[in-house]
Amino acid sequence: MTTTTQSSTSRRSAYPRPRVLGIKTEVPLFDGKRVRYVNLDSAASTPPLLRVQQAVDHFAPWYSSVHRGAGYKSRLSTHLYEHARDVVMRFTGASPATHEVVFVRNTTEALNLLAHRIILEPGELVLTTRMEHHSNLLPWYRTPHEFVELTPDGRIDLQDLERRLKAHQGKVRLVTASAASNVSGIITGIRQMARLAHTHGALIAADVAQLAPHRALSMGAVDDLERIDIMAFSGHKLYAPYGAGALVVPATLFASGQPMLVGGGSACLVTRSDIIWTSGADLEEAGSPNVIGVVAMAAALEELMRYGMDKVAAHERGLTRYAIKRLQTVPGLSLYGPSWDTMLSGSEDRLGVFSFKLAGHSYSEIAAILANEWGIGVRSGCFCAHQYVAFLMGVSDAVSEKIYDQLISGLPVDLPGMVRASLGLANTREDIDRLVAGLTAIAQGNIRAQYIQTPGGDLEPAGTTHDFAAHGESLL
Ligand SMILES: Cc1ncc(COP(=O)(O)O)c(C=O)c1O
Repeated sequence: MTTTTQSSTSRRSAYPRPRVLGIKTEVPLFDGKRVRYVNLDSAASTPPLLRVQQAVDHFAPWYSSVHRGAGYKSRLSTHLYEHARDVVMRFTGASPATHEVVFVRNTTEALNLLAHRIILEPGELVLTTRMEHHSNLLPWYRTPHEFVELTPDGRIDLQDLERRLKAHQGKVRLVTASAASNVSGIITGIRQMARLAHTHGALIAADVAQLAPHRALSMGAVDDLERIDIMAFSGHKLYAPYGAGALVVPATLFASGQPMLVGGGSACLVTRSDIIWTSGADLEEAGSPNVIGVVAMAAALEELMRYGMDKVAAHERGLTRYAIKRLQTVPGLSLYGPSWDTMLSGSEDRLGVFSFKLAGHSYSEIAAILANEWGIGVRSGCFCAHQYVAFLMGVSDAVSEKIYDQLISGLPVDLPGMVRASLGLANTREDIDRLVAGLTAIAQGNIRAQYIQTPGGDLEPAGTTHDFAAHGESLL
């Protein structure tokens, strides 16, 4: 996705790279030594930008409840809250003439809200894909749906999408897919999917939770066959972890109908027997909203636009290529998803999200060793994408069913999983070097601590206990 809605090149070139908080924080290792924390878990969540924290600090004394207050602070807060909708419009390239921005907690809530709003006629269905995060999968289990299949290397199969659109001619109401994967880092062909969806009379929703922090977005013009109709994202993946997210939708979808949550703000008039609902975004924002979260998210988007999403992308593309080259040197490491060659050829854009295995070591062991011996934060497991992870790992349906039966019977199960390292704006080549050094040491058997399983199922170095209670208390 590319955009033309952001600030001019000359302004961008002068603007420094936004600073992310916590990049110099030191954390304890298993032996008590302290090292700078290397955060390789941006696909899960990101710390705030310095600019975002400053905005929150500046705004906090002026905070008051929005919409219903007559006082100066309420009106100022209302102004900033409503202004944030314009910021989201600019960030996504959406037009206020056709779209609404609804503030929600996160992508999960945005997609649940969308599922609530897509009311199907008999015979209609939704198409989602086997690549999706559970946020874009589980809401559709409650409604007639089908999964678009994957190609052998883990991409969304556009031919299968077209086949299904044709088979259900005119009956597919919505195609909903990730714009980028939180597991393989693949940037999907969301534009081609949009063209196919629109050609067959369906709407297209893009889960941009992963793409938005790394690439410029553009909804596209309303008459463009490749336009995106709906976008959903979370502020906490965009350097504003204060509990706000956004759903950008065609205004027509919210013009009428019953809201998902009802309460203050969602009605114009309530009598003993009846309710007249309001319309637009207000209709779906019942209750007092998360004003500080929304202001923080807008501050993050403004800051990223001032810097330029093209520069964010250029920085991260360089790091991604470097990471691929370096990871290739780790003995026994294999990446899930497209081959090394495809990735190194540069023929295809991808995110710096790497899910891998290391021969002879479990995913939880690798994550624990990286944390406790190298001060690196990665993620391990299935990343809330069970179907996709199973596909990439070649877990057969028979094995999946066996795991299902074991879980249902309350038996202990070793779920298959991967390790994931993911890059963001603040990462450097040094971070990647540390990861590669850690993984190489593990591959060569240079593991310094002994690991035991905690009652919660995590692995921890024997004899090491971090006093999170005392540390937490010291922070508050
Ligand atoms: C692609 C994708 N979609 C949706 C989500 C859910 O985001 P949230 O937990 O903020 O609702 C995630 C989170 O990792 C994601 O990676």
